[in-house]
Parts: sequence; structure tokens; C-alpha cells
Amino acid sequence: MNRSAFLFKLFCLLVCLLPILQACPQNCHCHGGDLHHVICDNVGLRKIPKVAEQTRLLNLQRNNFPVLPTNGFRDLRNLVSLHLQHSHIREISSGAFRGLKQLVYLYLSNNDINVIRMGAFDDLTELTYLYIDHNKIADLPKGLLSPMINLFILQLGSNKLRELKSGVFSGTKDLRWLYLSNNSISSIQPGALDDVENLAIFHLDKNQLTSYPLAAMSKLRVVEDLKLSHNPIKVIPDLAFQSFGRYMETLSLDNMGLEKFSDKAFAGTTTLKTVHIENNKLSSLPGSFPFNRLETLTMSNNPWHCSCQLAPLRRWLESTRSRPDAACASPSQARGQQIRDTAALRGCKLPTRRSKKGSRH
Ligand SMILES: *[C@@H]1O[C@H](CO)[C@@H](O)[C@H](O)[C@H]1NC(C)=O
Repeated sequence: MNRSAFLFKLFCLLVCLLPILQACPQNCHCHGGDLHHVICDNVGLRKIPKVAEQTRLLNLQRNNFPVLPTNGFRDLRNLVSLHLQHSHIREISSGAFRGLKQLVYLYLSNNDINVIRMGAFDDLTELTYLYIDHNKIADLPKGLLSPMINLFILQLGSNKLRELKSGVFSGTKDLRWLYLSNNSISSIQPGALDDVENLAIFHLDKNQLTSYPLAAMSKLRVVEDLKLSHNPIKVIPDLAFQSFGRYMETLSLDNMGLEKFSDKAFAGTTTLKTVHIENNKLSSLPGSFPFNRLETLTMSNNPWHCSCQLAPLRRWLESTRSRPDAACASPSQARGQQIRDTAALRGCKLPTRRSKKGSRH
């Protein structure tokens, strides 16, 4: 074979192979340009399809992948966004995402995931957004999440978690938004939140906590939005929010069966703007309750005891344009009257603010 014939054959081989290497998987849509999007939404796939190495977005939602195998995406080192929602996933193998060193977005919501093998998230060092809500995850062993050193948002709502163990978030030091709503969490070990002290949004509503997890919470420094609604906690203890009190703007403690705030429960909270405490069993507010920046307070459906201990609340109600429903349950002559209007609070002396100088002695 002479040289030019050889080159011709080589050329042919490359030209013929190129479309095969870059082919769009059957039934999928592919967008070219610099974006390299591959969309295989609801096309009956049962295996991860082969896609071009330069793919940046791969949408495989609404297919059927009971087990995500080891190395299933290994060659996709340019992939930024991977969509696997609604795909009947039950198990994620060790090394399932190996090679995805540029991945930023991973969507695993609305599957049946209950087995996540150790090492499942290996190589996901750039991952920033992980959505794995609406699954059946019952346990998060220590170290499972630790490869994801850049994780910013973790959506784990509507799973079956029962406990947050010490070190569960070790390694995810940049985590800022953590959603754990609608699980079955009844215990948060003291060291569970040690590595996520920069959390800004922390939603723990609709769980089974029976006491406020003070030791674990005290590790948090900058929480702005804390949600504990629908947990059967009866008492909020002293200094509950102190470690992040200068940051917390929104606090949701509604629908808990809450009976009491310890007197120093709100110590150190200086920026609260929105507080939800409706549908509880509260009759009073503690002396530490911070009205100074408060804009929104929902407090209906509590058995408020209308005595002078509610005088600071009355003053706030008079100063605000919002008119929250807040009715007295006792004493009997005030029952059913709005705290804002009742005669039971007329003539109360407001506690005068002691000067800073004198207060420590
Ligand atoms: C809460 O979780 C259950 C299953 O654990 C689910 O069926 C339900 O839809 C979830 N609720 C919300 C509001 O997502």
C-alpha cells in the first residue's frame, strides 16, 4: 500500500468515526455550539447512554436506572450539570460519579434512593448544588458527604433520616443552605453540625425532635433563617439562639405544641424581623423576646394569658401596621379579646430599660 492510499484510508476512518463518537443518543436531543447539551428526558432509557466527552449538560430525568453503577459517567470530565430526577433510582454505587471533576449541579430528587454506598460521591469536589430530596434515605454515614468540599446547597428534604450523627457533615465546610424538612429526625448529636458552622439557612421543620438540640446548634455562627416548625418540642431553653443571634432574621416555631420559652431563650438575638409561633400552647413571651427590629409576628391559636407580662407585646402591636390575630385565653374576663384591644393590659407599666452601666452590678 502506498503512502497516499494509507493516508486516504486513515482520513476515511477518522471521518467515518467522528459522527459515531459524537452521535446524539437515540431518541435524545442534542444542542451543539459551545453548550453541548444532551437531553434524554423520558425516553425509556435503562442504561446510562454514551455521550460525547465535551457534554456540559446531561438531562436523563424520567428514565429507569434502578442502580447507578460505578464509573457510569467516567469520561464526562467537562460535565457541569447532571439531571437524574424521577428515574426510579434505588441505589448509588461506590464511584458512581467518578471522573465528574467539573460537576457543579447534581439533581437526584424524586427517586427511591435508600442505598448510597461509601465512596458514592467521590470526585465531586466542584459540586455546589446537590438536590436529593423526596427519596428514602435513612442514614448518612460519616464521611459519605466529605468529598464535596465546595457544596453550598444541600436539599435532603422528604427522606427517612432518623438521626444526625456526629461528623455527618465533615468536609462540607462551605455549606450555606441545608434543607432537612419532612424527615423523621428525633436526634441531633452534639457534634453533628461541627463542620457546617457557616450555615445561613437551616430548615428542620416536620421532624420528630422532642427537645431543642442546644449542644449541636451552639456550633452554628451565622444562621439567618431557622425553621423548626412541626417538631414536638415543648420548651425552648435559655440561650437557644445565642451563637447566631446577631444574624438570625427569620425564626419559624409554629405548629409545635410549644408550651414555654425559657426566660433567656432569646438572649443575644438582635436582628429578628420575622417570627412564626402560631398554633402552639404558649401563654406568655419571655423577657428576652426582641421586639426592637420585629416586623412580622404570627401568633394566633395560642392560649395567651393577658396580664402585664404581655405589655411589651402590646406596645409593639400598637406601633406596627400589621394586625396579627392574637386573642387572650385568660383571665376569664378577657377571653376572646384581642391583646391589642383588651382592657386587661391597660395601665401596665412597661419595664424601663436599665442603663448598660448599671445592669451588670
Ligand atoms: C413528606 O415526605 C413524604 C414521604 O416521606 C412524602 O410522601 C410527602 O409528599 C412529603 N411532603 C412534602 C410536603 O413534600
